[in-house]
Amino acid sequence: MKKTEQLRVLNELNEHIATGSTTDAGGVMRAPMSDFTDPQLFLREKEAFFRKEPLCMGLSSELPQSNTYWSDNATGMPILMVRDGQGHFRAFANVCRHRGSLVVEEGRGSRSRFTCPFHAWTYGNTGDLIAVNKSSQFGDVSDLGLSLFELPSAELYGTLWVRPIQGDPIDEEDCLGGLQDDFMNWNLPDHPFIGMQIIDARMNWKLVIDSYGEIYHLNVLHKETIGDAVIGNAQTLATFEKNLRMVVANQKFNLLRMLLPYPDRWPYKQVTQTIYFLYPNVIMMIDSFGIDFLRIFPLNDSPSHSRTIHTWYIDPKVQKQFEDQGLSHEDKLKLFRESVEQEDYVMGADIQKNAELKIQEEIVLGRNEESLQHFHNAHRLGLGREQLQVGTT
Ligand code: FES
Ligand SMILES: [Fe+2]
Repeated sequence: MKKTEQLRVLNELNEHIATGSTTDAGGVMRAPMSDFTDPQLFLREKEAFFRKEPLCMGLSSELPQSNTYWSDNATGMPILMVRDGQGHFRAFANVCRHRGSLVVEEGRGSRSRFTCPFHAWTYGNTGDLIAVNKSSQFGDVSDLGLSLFELPSAELYGTLWVRPIQGDPIDEEDCLGGLQDDFMNWNLPDHPFIGMQIIDARMNWKLVIDSYGEIYHLNVLHKETIGDAVIGNAQTLATFEKNLRMVVANQKFNLLRMLLPYPDRWPYKQVTQTIYFLYPNVIMMIDSFGIDFLRIFPLNDSPSHSRTIHTWYIDPKVQKQFEDQGLSHEDKLKLFRESVEQEDYVMGADIQKNAELKIQEEIVLGRNEESLQHFHNAHRLGLGREQLQVGTT
């Protein structure tokens, strides 16, 4: 995020806090509750969002140097991502061309050759089949073109994108929609991967995304826990095609408002949390500790279950300080887990049950829940559904 844009956002937040205002969609919007339960809609979403669309998988530091790999099944498709010998990011369907088993088990590491655990065919990290076990007995397959199927992939300003099935190349503008300046200025590739955790919930995957899109609930649902950390009911919103960026202020922001009334001197990252939605299923949150990266998927082939994969990449500027002070990476991950698992996702599971009981047909997205209005319409656009409109109140 450029310095000039940071200052503009600081001033906007300052104004919101001073006047008791927040982002304003201009009207409320009603959305069907069946969006969280409809099995037909779910099948369309699975095909459109988790097969055909490019997905942001993580940051470049997942593959920190040449000849590293990351095998991931979270999208529902087995994907092998590599940084090849030349340092290029590439992705392949992780399916052996012999009899179709998984070639590489899920995980990360350094390796340039992959041997299938079934009959030991070996592939290079260019996807080429480089050895067939007992080839004289098996027979000659050299003319059959049995490389791993390469998937469209792109590394964009420190983010890794893959289309889970073969198709058109990945289009940068289609993925980022104007976020290039922001991403270029965050130095995303310099944030080392620290750890990841899986948080499953009995709630629709879009309901999970909604839970990160507004802070209207912060001082209510989280009043006993993290509610005081952020100033509730003051946020900014900027949209970038189907993506968006929202910024909220923490308590240090309030302190500086009193002590130093010049936003151009405030350290942006120390006083804010910047939250991106990367269509269709990623929430990326940037603060002074680093980047919390959330990939949100349907689980168990069901509209009622979801999996959040939380990855934490530390800010290189605080890494040493973090370690010197004996702060534990595990504790940081645990803190995040507890706040969502014990509060947001409990609330979400109740909403999911009520949606399944079909007591009411609609939910209402407020003027101050403009990000949620954007999520809902972005997903509708992706399926060619009619856009929801704001009302007049
Ligand atoms: S299925 Fe991979 S070597 Fe046979
Ligand atoms: Fe929350």
